[in-house]
Amino acid sequence: METRYFNAVKQPEAGTKLGGSVIRSGGLVAFPTETVYGLGANGLDGEAVNKIFEAKGRPNDNPLILHIAKKSDLKELWKSVPERARLLMDEFWPGPLTMVYLKSSRVPEEVTGGLDTVAVRMPDNRTALALIRAAGVPIAAPSANLSGKPSPTTADHVKADMNGRIDVIIDGGPCNIGVESTVVSLMGGAVTILRPGGITREMLEAVIGPVNLSPAVLAPLKQGEAAASPGMKYRHYAPDAQVIVGTGSLPDMAAKLIAEYDRREAEGLACIIFATEETRCFYRGKRYVIIGERKNPLTLCESLFAQFRAQEGKADVILCEALPETDMGLAYMNRLLRSAGFKTI
Ligand code: TXA
Ligand code: MG
Repeated sequence: METRYFNAVKQPEAGTKLGGSVIRSGGLVAFPTETVYGLGANGLDGEAVNKIFEAKGRPNDNPLILHIAKKSDLKELWKSVPERARLLMDEFWPGPLTMVYLKSSRVPEEVTGGLDTVAVRMPDNRTALALIRAAGVPIAAPSANLSGKPSPTTADHVKADMNGRIDVIIDGGPCNIGVESTVVSLMGGAVTILRPGGITREMLEAVIGPVNLSPAVLAPLKQGEAAASPGMKYRHYAPDAQVIVGTGSLPDMAAKLIAEYDRREAEGLACIIFATEETRCFYRGKRYVIIGERKNPLTLCESLFAQFRAQEGKADVILCEALPETDMGLAYMNRLLRSAGFKTI
């Protein structure tokens, strides 16, 4: 298949117009959102949705998010809309918050992997919203990477994974959050974070009171434990290299990363440290890149996946710094620990 490319800045209408008709007729379109690039298909057409799993090489029991352009479209996709959903969408939509609740009969089982719930979000990106409006249907979209690879935060990342596998790629420039949306379940009368993201636990609690955190956010599932979110079962966000996370106070952590660096280099492995503005001074004489600022974890989230991809074919070992698991630090640590297969030192 030949993939067609559009630039959302130079050709703002062309991409979304053609993209919308491709989606309506059962094809696949990659598009920018504020979090990561999505790989979209008609969310009401099970056959179209199956093509997403095929293009990504994704296990099809891992359910997809439906993307809508108007809050009022939610009621078509859910059995009912609980009050806490209204409070949350009024505050955070459009934005990086995905909500999971009982699905209506309009949602095909291909979207939900056979679950009786469905995940929905309204993205905060002009191109994404224009594409959904042009398609005239909710767009089912996972991240537009090959399954297991880091999520794409630029159109070039999408091209690297998806060229020739999908119909259209719309380039809207780099994504400004860089990690996927916060996923909350509204089941059981509560609000439970299944995946942390750009809407933090602290932001949710300011609107809705106490919010649960699924234990799988920061720890591997125990053997035989059921995944609240099927995505938790799979190794995720993985670059080619081995990722190791250093913990402890700043000087201790840096000393551990340097010792690991020296040990691995002595074994003939190419190492790199993902440093920060605050810690660069510790790593003099080592190979490192500065990926952001510890005091602003969003800068680290924004660049993490792109930095992983930039090391493909270069580094064998990537040494990273742990952050406090508060605010955007929680989303950062969730992605980092999963990339590392939970290996910390
Ligand atoms: O920011 C994002 O959310 C991006 C952009 C494209 O919108 N999308 C994205 O989709 O990250 P994906 O498929 O890579 O991640 C969806 C996550 C998975 O962890 C999946 O298991 C979970 O949401 N999920 C989807 N439906 C669910 C459901 N019914 N119950 C529990 N978890 C669900
Ligand atoms: Mg993904």
